[in-house]
Formats: sequence, structure tokens, C-alpha cells
Amino acid sequence: MNFILHNPTRIVFGVGSLSKLPKESQSIGINKPLIVIGQGSVKKNGILDRVLELLKDFKYAICENIKPNPTVDDVIRGKNIFLENGCDSVIALGGGSVMDAAKVISLVAKEGFDPWEYTANKKPKDAYPIITIPTLSATGSEADPIAVINNLNTGEKKSVSGMCLYPKFSIIDPELTITTPLNATVDGFIDIIVHASETFLSTKDRNVFCDGVTETIVKMVIENGPKIIANTTDIKARTEIALASTMAMYGILYPRSGGWPMHAIEHAISGLYPDISHGSGLAAIFPAIVEWDGERNIERVKQYIKIFGYEVNTAKEASEVIKNFIVSIKAFKGLKDLGVKKEDLNVIAEKTLILKGNKENKLLNIEPMGFNDILNVLERSY
Ligand SMILES: [Fe+2]
Repeated sequence: MNFILHNPTRIVFGVGSLSKLPKESQSIGINKPLIVIGQGSVKKNGILDRVLELLKDFKYAICENIKPNPTVDDVIRGKNIFLENGCDSVIALGGGSVMDAAKVISLVAKEGFDPWEYTANKKPKDAYPIITIPTLSATGSEADPIAVINNLNTGEKKSVSGMCLYPKFSIIDPELTITTPLNATVDGFIDIIVHASETFLSTKDRNVFCDGVTETIVKMVIENGPKIIANTTDIKARTEIALASTMAMYGILYPRSGGWPMHAIEHAISGLYPDISHGSGLAAIFPAIVEWDGERNIERVKQYIKIFGYEVNTAKEASEVIKNFIVSIKAFKGLKDLGVKKEDLNVIAEKTLILKGNKENKLLNIEPMGFNDILNVLERSY
């Protein structure tokens, strides 16, 4: 077991913690943040007004209209607003897309390069202070140094990561997630479970600590997700889900090695089809990945499925448990129903390896996945 865990993000957590924004902002010495928001929900539900009231002693500028699956153009537009207004920090107020866009805006405003360069070999070195205030429990971007952006010209979705992209602090106030639409909330459940499960399923190494963390996080979602579906204002359940979301990406799973095949394949899918949400893309391939993994290491998958409360004997049964769980919280849609064209499955498999393949052109999983393996998973998910 070898790992480095250094998470410098100050987590300010709890119902009502939004009120701590002014004091926390003063403590890091910012004067004029760029407030980055999505397509208007924080305006309609009053959360933006609450933030502006809390920031009444600060100057600020606002960047609106960040798209789901944020694009390079969103980032460049945000950078221009940042520089034109002489901002000195960013506050992301929204879901994962907003947080990711804000991170890259702060980076390119500081360093001046094209955002897409950072998805290749260029390493982020310095960024303006980043603050995140998630309104959706899903991506864990509030606690990690990663941002994912889309390039509509190349049909690719790639990540940017570097220590400077850790937020200075994140305010995780579960109350802010109450007004999020239910479909996005449920997509978030899938994303959280997959974050906690990727390296559980993709490694042969048992790691008692991390396996326990996975079990806890997945159970938190399984138990609290349905409560939120039944009552969207259940603040206790919202709080558990918010904690699960943040902790899944905080770094406490770093002690376990392993790949992230579902995210790699999903990024290739929604890179090509930006209208497919991250959670829907993951949900479509999750059962097939579990089946593929179970065909190679049934003991590990049996152990995993126990978290969902089932004993299974075969990979097919394991896959059914996952599919049934998804059906229970969300209308399950295969890739066909999500609008993916059959002839694009080859392209998606190719793109997955281009984006996340290793030197041997394989994707890290319980056994390395080549082109045909990925295609096989995509066909089972169709
Ligand atoms: Fe994710």
C-alpha cells in the first residue's frame, strides 16, 4: 500500500453553514470574487440572492450560464469576465459543472493559457483562490483537485487536475440541495456510488480500510436516496448524502489502488453526446461493468454485491442486482434509449482508450480492458 493524501481544502459542513461565507472569505483575504453559476436555478430559488446578501461587504462579478458538461468556451467566457472585472478569486455556486468550470476559470485567469492545453501535457501550477458551494451532492468536486471540461470541436471530455485546483474552502450546506430537481439529485446518487466503487471493483487487492469506506458510502446512498425520493425536503437524508458525496472524493480511498473504468468510458460517451448527463451515462454502463468484472473475479463482485444486501453466485446475477437498484431509484436507460447510435460504440471504445488508455493501450480494471472488452461492455449496455 503506497499513497499520498494531502487534501488542503477546508470543509465547512452542515445545515446553515452558508452563513459562514463572509467570515471564511475574509479569512483567506479575498476582496472581489467572480461568482460562477449555472443556467439560472440559483437565481430562481433565491440561493444567489442569499449569497449576494452575505457578500454585501465585498465587491463581486457574476458569470452566468455555465452549461451541464461545461465547455472550453464557457471557461474562456468566464476568464474574460474575471479579468475585465479585476476579480481575485472564484466562488462556484452550483453543481459539478459549475464547480469544474470555476476551477479552470481561476486557473486560466491566473496563467493565461488555453484551457484545453491542461487536458494534455500542461500541468496546472497556479490558480486564484477557489471557493465552492455545491447545490447538488454528486461529483465531490468540492473536495478534489479535478475539473472535467468538454471540447465541442473534438467531441471530447477530459480532465484537468493539479494541487492548485483544490478549493481553499468549500461550504457544504445540505439545505442548499433541497431545491435541486429530482432527476439531477438521483443522477448524483449514481455518481456518488460509482466514485466509491470504482477502485473496489477494479482491484484484486483487498484493502480493509478502503473496502469499509466503500461499504459505508454506498450504504449511505442506498439508505438515504429513497428517503429523498419520497420526501425531497428530508434534511437528515440530504445531510447524509452530502457527506457521502464529499467523502467519496476527499482522498480517503487513495490507499486502494485501481482504475476508474466506468468514468473513463462515461467521459467518452458524454464527450461525444454532451446532452447525456454524467449520472445517466454511468447508470447505463454500471451493470455491464459489474458483470464483466464478475466474470473475471466473482469473489470480489460477490463481496461488493453484499453491500446491496444480496448474496449472488454469478456475474449475471450481480449485474441484475445493480440494474434493479438503478431501476428502483431512476428510470434505467440503456445507451440506445439515451440516444447513442449503435455505429458510435466503436468510436466510444476508441476514444476511451485514447483518453484513458495506458502505454499498452489498455484501460485499467480488474483485468486490463482492450478495445474489444470496452466494446463488449458498451454492447451489453445498449
Ligand atoms: Fe463522477
